[in-house]
Amino acid sequence: VNLVEYLARATEYLEKHGISSARLNAELLLAHLLRLSRLELYTNFDRRLSTAEADAYRDLVVERGSGRPLQYITGDTGFRGMTLAVAEGVFIPRPETEVLVEKALEALDQCAAHGGSQLKVLDLGTGCGNIALSIASERDAAVVTATDLDPAACDLCARNAAAADLGERVFVAAGDLYDAVDAGATYDVIVSNPPYVPSGMLDSLPGEVKGFEPSAALFAGADGMDVIRRVVEGAPGRLVEGGYLVLEVDESHAQSVRELLDAGPWDDVAVFEDLAGRERVVRAKLGS
Ligand SMILES: C[S@@+](CC[C@H](N)C(=O)[O-])C[C@H]1O[C@@H](n2cnc3c(N)ncnc32)[C@H](O)[C@@H]1O
Repeated sequence: VNLVEYLARATEYLEKHGISSARLNAELLLAHLLRLSRLELYTNFDRRLSTAEADAYRDLVVERGSGRPLQYITGDTGFRGMTLAVAEGVFIPRPETEVLVEKALEALDQCAAHGGSQLKVLDLGTGCGNIALSIASERDAAVVTATDLDPAACDLCARNAAAADLGERVFVAAGDLYDAVDAGATYDVIVSNPPYVPSGMLDSLPGEVKGFEPSAALFAGADGMDVIRRVVEGAPGRLVEGGYLVLEVDESHAQSVRELLDAGPWDDVAVFEDLAGRERVVRAKLGS
């Protein structure tokens, strides 16, 4: 039995178990097992699997069929061209968060245009560090403090920072939002993808999410805005004048967050859509 046949069988199994993008999942699991890229799978289609490899592949496919997220099985994920370690208990980065990073980078470039040689960024709720590390890797002037309530997320972020050779510009601090950093510290940009699912919506989440991802990364009170409200309230005291707050939100919250900011000391309040046309990012500039 060659790779083509294993892939066909695995795809059928995953489809039967309700896994979307079954073929892609089958390929990524096999590539992970054989330590090949997906492209290399295609150039090795005639390769046979040893009995040990075949057994190991079957175990991986069954595990994925049970609903365990692919990224927790392979132990990594891609984000803005970086490969980052992820682990059970820590939120898996989503592709739409790349838009948040775009908008944070634009804000950072605005700050740079006004003369800052070193730009300070605070990432609240960093998870595996995807936002913090993208910003640091894409802007040499950025010095990023990445925080999370969860020490496991902080450890993972620090590991990813070291692996990406960004340990000298990404500092990790554990704690509840702004409590994680020194009282007097100020930043040019505060960025956050906080938890924003209303607590009553547990049942409507996909099984892969509610069964495997940490609830502290997902839920934020009855209306889902508990953490966002605290991030917004605390931001003016932590930003330099003209600094930016950039938030990922649920599309159902975008206008409420805009109103919250419109009622405060903020200028240039703007809502941005993700690639699917949903209002997912809100950005504002601290006025004088
Ligand atoms: C939706 S996840 C986002 C993770 C990552 N930044 C991303 O974009 O994929 C939210 C993160 O915020 C953290 N978090 C939740 N409440 C927090 C709090 N009060 N203070 C700091 N971090 C918090 C969670 O542990 C989780 O890692």
